[in-house]
Amino acid sequence: MQHLIVATRNAHKTREIQRILGADFAVRDLSAYPEIPEAAESGKTFGENAVLKATAASSQLPGRVVADDSGLEVDALGGAPGIYSARYAGQNATNKQNIDKLLAELARVERAKRSARFRCVIALAHGGKLLATFEGVVEGVIVDPPRGRGGFGYDPIFVPQEFEQTFGELPAEVKNRISHRARAIRLFAARLVALKPSD
Ligand code: IMP
Repeated sequence: MQHLIVATRNAHKTREIQRILGADFAVRDLSAYPEIPEAAESGKTFGENAVLKATAASSQLPGRVVADDSGLEVDALGGAPGIYSARYAGQNATNKQNIDKLLAELARVERAKRSARFRCVIALAHGGKLLATFEGVVEGVIVDPPRGRGGFGYDPIFVPQEFEQTFGELPAEVKNRISHRARAIRLFAARLVALKPSD
């Protein structure tokens, strides 16, 4: 059994990472460590933010720590909301407020031009030092109105390429096989084999 701490308090991310990694891993997140603050996401890219979160948490925790920074890039909006996905409609915005804002911005964009992708960067750190980063992307399109109650965030408006249902409608097993997070986490898991047990 491998132990891993995810530097997040987003229970959806933690659950997805646990399911993607499977039963060989015991995954915990910062909800088990209320005294540790979440690092400010002051970077300009997903990679910078993932590294900030992983190194800050791992300087205060034993063992390997990973952080996920992720979001949605919509081509017709020049890549927005991107790193601002969680706070697109403002600090503490709900998923619905973020989705409503995105669909309002896209109102005049024809269907054929609604291409988008989810991007996820996973940073792995130990003792405050960065060991590696891994990136995963899933391409798709934005649909309106939202469909499905599964997943989280922008899942109800994102249809991955080669599917007709949104991430909110698809079974969790499907999302966890093809998602940006699944791709980044699988690269990470493959790399763990090459790391020393002490890392
Ligand atoms: P972070 O916590 O700064 O990485 O913010 C990630 C934000 O991107 C989330 O709050 C969601 O709005 C969005 N996001 C990231 N991954 C997903 C996903 O798998 N489905 C839907 N939305 C996602």
